[in-house]
Amino acid sequence: MPETTPLTVLAIASYEKGHAFLRQAKKEGARVFLLTSLSLKDSNTWPREVLDDIFYMPDEHKRWNRDDTIKAVSYLARNEEIGRIVPLDDFDLETAAALREHLRIPGMGETTVRHFRDKLAMRMKAEEAGIAVPDFIHVLNHAKLRAFCERVPAPWVLKPRSSAGAIGIRRIENQEQLWRALDELGDQQSHYLLERFVEGAVFHVDSIVYEKEIRFAIASGYGRPPMEVAHGGGVFTTRILKRGSPQEQTLLELNQRLLAALGLVRGVSHSEYILGTDGTAYFLETSARVGGAHIAELIECATGINLWAEWARVEVAGGKTPYVVPAPRGDYGGLLVSLARQEWPDTSRYEEPEIVWRLKKKHHAGLIVVSPFYDRVGELLEILAQRVNEDCGAVLPPRETPHD
Ligand SMILES: Nc1ncnc2c1ncn2[C@@H]1O[C@H](COP(=O)(O)OP(=O)(O)O)[C@@H](O)[C@H]1O
Ligand SMILES: [Mg+2]
Repeated sequence: MPETTPLTVLAIASYEKGHAFLRQAKKEGARVFLLTSLSLKDSNTWPREVLDDIFYMPDEHKRWNRDDTIKAVSYLARNEEIGRIVPLDDFDLETAAALREHLRIPGMGETTVRHFRDKLAMRMKAEEAGIAVPDFIHVLNHAKLRAFCERVPAPWVLKPRSSAGAIGIRRIENQEQLWRALDELGDQQSHYLLERFVEGAVFHVDSIVYEKEIRFAIASGYGRPPMEVAHGGGVFTTRILKRGSPQEQTLLELNQRLLAALGLVRGVSHSEYILGTDGTAYFLETSARVGGAHIAELIECATGINLWAEWARVEVAGGKTPYVVPAPRGDYGGLLVSLARQEWPDTSRYEEPEIVWRLKKKHHAGLIVVSPFYDRVGELLEILAQRVNEDCGAVLPPRETPHD
């Protein structure tokens, strides 16, 4: 039986993002509600014209009180039948899952969401499925940690179990440094994991999943590893891999096994992998969201697929109606982003016709290039990264908070 009343989608967004999701959900015929942070009330640019209503949660640095959020949404549900709850930012996944569990709304519950938010949980699950992960250990039992340090040669990476954007991640060179770092963490230790630092290149696969099937996936490779850029500065780059290349095939196959093992039913995922210099393809991290750092724009420029909009279509279809992904264009694309010492750096001086997008953000320079030729994208990225670095390059301390 077709649904008679229109579907109501409640989007949860502690940070402002995902306009294309909201627009598409509306286009698909849904009523669209947005629950966002009160601190964004005066400065936001949410697309009001597609929102049926907007609600604000009081926040402390964009974090909401979980009990208050459950109360607020339950209150809303007295008069509204909420059909879907969709978290637009990584930090909103747990909130959305808690709300779904409380209101008994379909979608990922708290157990599945944990595999997309908690780096320890996702590793354990991936390993169980026979996927290679860097040797790791939960920072919990000190005798086990000591044994790990004896068994696995340094350097290691000490990382928080749930945060993004290389925040709080540290490379650790020896045991002395490790115990000092753990001492500083005090009773926060158990929110961390320790793992072997794997020498290699870092890649990402961005996917659309519907009813546990990968309907679209595209593999890309970062220029320098994100940790190097986050800690050392310089230009961040990523580019779409050559279609049909052995690297691409390895990553797509690994990605398929990973998402199946982690149980993603429908939605989008940004997952990262390291191709180690030892020849092994390692799983690094995954998420059930659109990749940040303008990767969605890169993919749209090269393929025509807007991951936000497709995610909205997938959510509205909800396993009840068929979902067909639009045929992707097969162009190649590359993205570069750099901090800039100028407030509004002038990137119009770069006149290559392949430049299809320019970032408009204070103290940032960013470009996307698109070409039917894989090698041309590489060449352009190299030239432009060097010029942007010379013209705008700024070295700033590593970020302490996400999204700034
Ligand atoms: N085990 C590892 N070996 C080598 N590099 C790593 C390892 N873990 C993380 N990194 C580096 O740190 C970056 C961020 O780590 P990641 O686990 O992706 O966390 P997030 O992106 O959420 O901050 C990676 O892109 C990579 O450059
Ligand atoms: Mg990462």
